[in-house]
Amino acid sequence: MASVTYRNVTKRWGDFAAVSNLSIEIPDGEFLVFVGPSGCGKSTSLRMLAGLEEITEGEILIGDRVVNNVAPKDRDIAMVFQSYALYPHMTVYDNMAFGLRLRRTPKQVIDERVREVAASLGIEMLLDRRPRQLSGGQRQRVAVGRAIVREPAVFLLDEPLSNLDAKLRVEARAFISKLHQRLGTTFIYVTHDQTEAMTMGQRIAVLRAGELMQIDTPSNLYEHPANIFVAGFIGSPAMNFFDNVLLTEEDGRMIVAADPYSLEVPEERYELYRPYLGKRVVFGIRPEDVHHPDYPPAGIIPAMGEANVDVVELMGNEKIVYLESEGKTILSRMDPRSDVRVGHRTGAVFNMANMHLFDPDTELALQ
Ligand SMILES: Nc1ncnc2c1ncn2[C@@H]1O[C@H](COP(=O)(O)OP(=O)(O)O)[C@@H](O)[C@H]1O
Ligand SMILES: [Mg+2]
Repeated sequence: MASVTYRNVTKRWGDFAAVSNLSIEIPDGEFLVFVGPSGCGKSTSLRMLAGLEEITEGEILIGDRVVNNVAPKDRDIAMVFQSYALYPHMTVYDNMAFGLRLRRTPKQVIDERVREVAASLGIEMLLDRRPRQLSGGQRQRVAVGRAIVREPAVFLLDEPLSNLDAKLRVEARAFISKLHQRLGTTFIYVTHDQTEAMTMGQRIAVLRAGELMQIDTPSNLYEHPANIFVAGFIGSPAMNFFDNVLLTEEDGRMIVAADPYSLEVPEERYELYRPYLGKRVVFGIRPEDVHHPDYPPAGIIPAMGEANVDVVELMGNEKIVYLESEGKTILSRMDPRSDVRVGHRTGAVFNMANMHLFDPDTELALQ
C-alpha cells in the first residue's frame, strides 16, 4: 500500500505538452479518478506513474520514493489496460500466474493466490479456458485478476470498462468499487466518462488539454464546479449556460437578466455577487434545476419562465425536455407526469438555489 504524489509533472513530445505542471497528492488507499475528454492527458499521466513514459519535468513519488528513474517492474504497481492485453495463447490460469512466475514466486504460493483471487472474482471455473473462449465481461475480470494477484501497492486502471456493453459496465463499476473497499489499496482510475468518475471516485481530478482543472469529491465538483469547463463536463445532460447576461438590480432585488428571463438571485448570494453588479456574467443552471410548474420539488427557490417545447424524451422516471426560447435551447429534466407537448408553450421553473455564475473572461466560478 502506498500514497502517490505528482510534483509539477510535465510531459512533452517536442513542443507539445500532453501534461502540464501536474501536482496531485493521492493518499494511501484512495480511489482517485482522472477524467476528461479524449486526448486531455489521462493515459499519459498514468503511464508516467507506471514507468511506461518518461517524465519530462517534475517528480512522481510512490510512497516516499521518487520513481522517475525506477524501472516499471520495481515500482510495485499493476495496471489494467482498456485492451486487457491478455496473452491469447495462454489459459486464464497462466495469464494470472504470469507476473508472479516472472518474479520467481514459489509455485505453491502462485497456485494459492491465483485460485483465491479467481474465486473472489467469480472466475474460478474459467481457469482452463483461453481468452477467446471468454465473454467481454469475463475477460475484463481476468485482466483485473491478473493485476490483483500481484498484490501491488498501487493499482492503475486505464478505461478498463470501455469494451463492455452498457449493462455490464454498470455491474463492473460496482464490482470494482467493492474490490477497492475489500483490498484497501490505492486505486488510480482513468476514464472519459463522467458517470463512471462520479460513481466510483472518492476524489476526481478533471483534466483539460493537459491541465488540471479541479480536483475534489464528486459532490463538491457537482455543487461547486470551479470553472465553466468543469461545470459543463460533470453532470448529464450538461448544465445550461446563458452567455453574456447582465447582473443587475431592480427595486433592491438582484436579478440575472438572462433574456427573455429576469431571474431573481437568492438573497444569501447577494454579498458574494455584489462586486459583479452591472457586469456581464455567464449564468449556469442544470437541467435537473429546471422544473415543470405543476411539479416543483419542495424547498426550491423558484424563478418563473416560459418556453417552447421542442423535443420530449420520456425516460420512464423523467422527461428530458428540450425547451426553446429566443433561439436558445434549454434542457430540462421534468417530472414524467409533466404535460408538455411538442410545439406548445410551457412554464419553466428555475431553482435559483442551485444557480451558478461565472466570470466570462477567466471562466472561473464566482464563489
Ligand atoms: N507517443 C506520443 N507522441 C506524441 N504525442 C502523443 C503520444 N502519446 C500521446 N500523445 C498525445 O498526447 C495527448 C494526450 O494523450 P493521452 O494521454 O493518451 O490522452 P487521453 O488518455 O486523455 O485520451 C494527445 O494529444 C495524444 O495525441
Ligand atoms: Mg487514454
